[in-house]
Amino acid sequence: MHISDGFGRRFSYLRLSLTDACNFRCSYCLPEGYKKCGGPGPLSNEELMRAARAFSDLGIAKIRLTGGEPTIRRNFDVTAASIAALPKVKTLALTTNGYRLRERAVSWRKAGIDALNVSLDSLDPDTFLAITGHDRCIEVQQGIEAALIAGFSSVKVNIVYMKGVNDHEVDRFIKLTQDLPISVRFIELMETGDHAAFFRKHHAPVLDVARQLTKRGWTQRIKAADAGPSLDYVHPDHAGSIGFIAPYSEDFCKTCNRLRFSSQGDLHLCLFGTFGIPMRRFLQADDQIPELKQRIVAAVRRKSPRHFLHQGETGQTHNLSAIGG
Ligand code: GTP
Ligand code: 5AD
Ligand code: SF4
Repeated sequence: MHISDGFGRRFSYLRLSLTDACNFRCSYCLPEGYKKCGGPGPLSNEELMRAARAFSDLGIAKIRLTGGEPTIRRNFDVTAASIAALPKVKTLALTTNGYRLRERAVSWRKAGIDALNVSLDSLDPDTFLAITGHDRCIEVQQGIEAALIAGFSSVKVNIVYMKGVNDHEVDRFIKLTQDLPISVRFIELMETGDHAAFFRKHHAPVLDVARQLTKRGWTQRIKAADAGPSLDYVHPDHAGSIGFIAPYSEDFCKTCNRLRFSSQGDLHLCLFGTFGIPMRRFLQADDQIPELKQRIVAAVRRKSPRHFLHQGETGQTHNLSAIGG
């Protein structure tokens, strides 16, 4: 069984948000810090597991745990281990801001997490502090090294590329890949409902950096059929790779392979969609799973061919912490 939409796109990858709360205050996401909103609170472990089972029955083979900051959820390791144990889940991935990665890399690996993406928007402690509100630049870098030692199958480092903030650090980031087998990815700043002015001030196209790389002997790697939106470049002298996530580029959405499930139980067909489809009421008992699956299949058929960010339509996405990027 598999899920597909009206444009022939197949979905094998779910981004599952464990909480909308976050302990960082990234200037492009939650500059004022996380504020609890009302409502019923995040899904319980039972609800989450029913969702994960339904999606894996429908052919989702990769689940990425996102947030907010997913690792601040109570008993995070237990939740991760339960999802990792689902027989049809081939890859369990985690996106984290790196908080306590240094201390917890080994236990997250033991819980069954295979792949890790870590945010590191600057290699300079003062700039890192200015962006995130936390003086943890060195600690996060040590966390990345701990993750490599812990044996994750892939370790990726995410940099939100911002003009006037960290665009002068490109070469330092590239240098990181010389010895470390990591994938460093420059993510183009995306406009969200809360941050139109920030976006106008700091947005710059990441593919300009990619063009510089090609002049310096980097070549674009052919994308695997099930790959995400990142365009990856390699160089014979570098152990790692450099990737670019360019959501404003032509055709970005054509190969979309992912669905999103919020921590409140809403299915999101696009990061910048105008609506989430509430599914929580079908997560209350095991015998609802068949109906949940039917509703997921039916909803995905309505997925739009593309986002409309170019026209400044940010949908209902106030910031990316709500549905985990
Ligand atoms: P993998 O391919 O599994 O490594 O995942 P990923 O690169 O998508 O995951 P990650 O959580 O590290 O996300 C990196 C950035 O890409 C985040 O800023 C996401 O918001 C962005 N991103 C990922 N998927 C999409 C998408 O479908 N649309 C848009 N506009 N941005 C996305
Ligand atoms: N534009 C681009 N990337 C963003 N992220 C959060 N908000 C934005 C935005 N407005 C990124 C984080 C992290 C990932 C999950 O989402 O830095 O790498
Ligand atoms: Fe938290 Fe991630 Fe948003 Fe930063 S980008 S505030 S780490 S949810």
